[in-house]
Amino acid sequence: MRRPFVAGNWKMNGSRSHAASLVDGILEGKSDLGDVEVGVCPPFVLIPMVADRLAGSGVAWGAQNLDPNESGAFTGEVSGSMLADFDCRYCIVGHSERRALYGETNDLVAAKFQAAQRDGLVPILCVGETLAQREGDETEAVVAAQLNAVLDAAGPKTMVEAVIAYEPVWAIGTGMTATPEQAQAVHAYIRELIAGRDADVAGSVRILYGGSVKAGNAAELFAQPDIDGGLIGGASLQSDEFLAICRAACQ
Ligand code: 13P
Repeated sequence: MRRPFVAGNWKMNGSRSHAASLVDGILEGKSDLGDVEVGVCPPFVLIPMVADRLAGSGVAWGAQNLDPNESGAFTGEVSGSMLADFDCRYCIVGHSERRALYGETNDLVAAKFQAAQRDGLVPILCVGETLAQREGDETEAVVAAQLNAVLDAAGPKTMVEAVIAYEPVWAIGTGMTATPEQAQAVHAYIRELIAGRDADVAGSVRILYGGSVKAGNAAELFAQPDIDGGLIGGASLQSDEFLAICRAACQ
């Protein structure tokens, strides 16, 4: 049985005061949520204060990126051990914005995935196709290449301590959510691909959907058999909306 998981990816948004009220709102509303794991991934600088506020609450926190190196002369970067030092549980790796805007390759994403696990973090591995790739009927090939790079480097068993997020690039921040059927088809494909390496791991790994998830469309997405929750961008910046999405994951 896979426990539903809803994580907020705040991206480069927020301030100390916004983060404080957002986290306090989540804490106030979380008692009636039911059995769903909830997490937030703030920008690096807000992690210490979010960690202080969420400590002991059952709500997890994590980062949006890490450098694969352990420490040293890597100006501007943050390592997994630094994130672990602030009790981060999760770290997003391979988000499409990082792939597209910062040139992250499948190999670099695989290195980040392994570095996160080396440092005791649970990577949230993002995969997904662009609109042109979908229209060119390349969705499965693109997702397979993204996933296989990690499976080849790290081995299928590492997926036990990881989360996958399917985020079609064309659905991110656009309001164009994948239909539940479109999302389910790719989630099932991802699970099959992992089952080809290890059936037990495939059955237990959580696969989240991300891309314009809102309170109004979350329930039908999360009702799909292979969708185990969501990675939420814009709608995670308001506590009421985010909590409503979390609630939709328990129905
Ligand atoms: P939106 O929910 O804003 O579309 O963003 C999704 C996303 O990229 C989460 O990582």
